[in-house]
Amino acid sequence: MLLSVQGLVVAYGRKRVLHGVGLELNPGEKLVIMGPSGSGKSTLLRAIPRLIEPEEGRIIFMGVDITRLKGRELRSVRRRMGFLPQSYSLFPHMTVLKNITYPLQKSLGLDRRAAEERALKYLSMLGIDSLAERHPARLSGGQQQRAALARALAMEPEVLLLDEPTSALDPESRADVLDALYSVARIGKSMIVVTHEADFALSVADRMLFMEDGKIIEEGTPGELIGRSGRVKKFLESILEEACGPR
Ligand SMILES: Nc1ncnc2c1ncn2[C@@H]1O[C@H](COP(=O)(O)OP(=O)(O)OP(=O)(O)O)[C@@H](O)[C@H]1O
Ligand SMILES: [Mg+2]
Repeated sequence: MLLSVQGLVVAYGRKRVLHGVGLELNPGEKLVIMGPSGSGKSTLLRAIPRLIEPEEGRIIFMGVDITRLKGRELRSVRRRMGFLPQSYSLFPHMTVLKNITYPLQKSLGLDRRAAEERALKYLSMLGIDSLAERHPARLSGGQQQRAALARALAMEPEVLLLDEPTSALDPESRADVLDALYSVARIGKSMIVVTHEADFALSVADRMLFMEDGKIIEEGTPGELIGRSGRVKKFLESILEEACGPR
């Protein structure tokens, strides 16, 4: 088991938004999380590297209970989880290349040449190596998102945590970022992806979780979830309809 989250309770101030959520991820597995706005998907994803501190519950990562780790140990765990927030996260004053090499040099201790080599490897994998010298302000949303994905990948984390990587994009950029996500899936990276991209979920997810009001209300393989009746099926049908037109 790569990751096990048990009984996670998270609150903002006095308002609880996760009510005992659990999940498990095996090496190489792809888990997709869906659910309506405000159901707690981002909160769950952010709580895994403890960017939000849970009030209760346990997070076991690579066999280590990381729930109470602090300082250097916690930073080292976070480096092994490639978290990509819902909104853009590139350093605006650095070129794409520098955005990627900076953390490689600073946190992983790579020398400049090794860092640049690794950065270019992932930039070409995602089809944006020609943009290495640009600053984020001169990139489209989809290019920025792919650069942020390349930065996360270049750290070679054990798992990628991606929060709605395509939701803020126009259709063309969305397709480019989806292509990039398929490439990442193909190299066998373990991933937890919050997304409403139905095609991606159906073809890539080993399992899916469906959240509502801070709880997981359904889970299973995409086929199992679509086969079930009720709330989840309706939700999935509505996003499938959006993606493919009425059936
Ligand atoms: N920083 C915050 N302070 C207070 N409440 C918050 C904060 N962030 C989120 N919330 C609340 O926590 C709940 C869960 O939010 P969260 O962002 O996790 O939902 P989500 O499922 O990711 O939604 P979306 O699909 O819109 O991104 C919501 O009720 C939200 O209003
Ligand atoms: Mg969210």
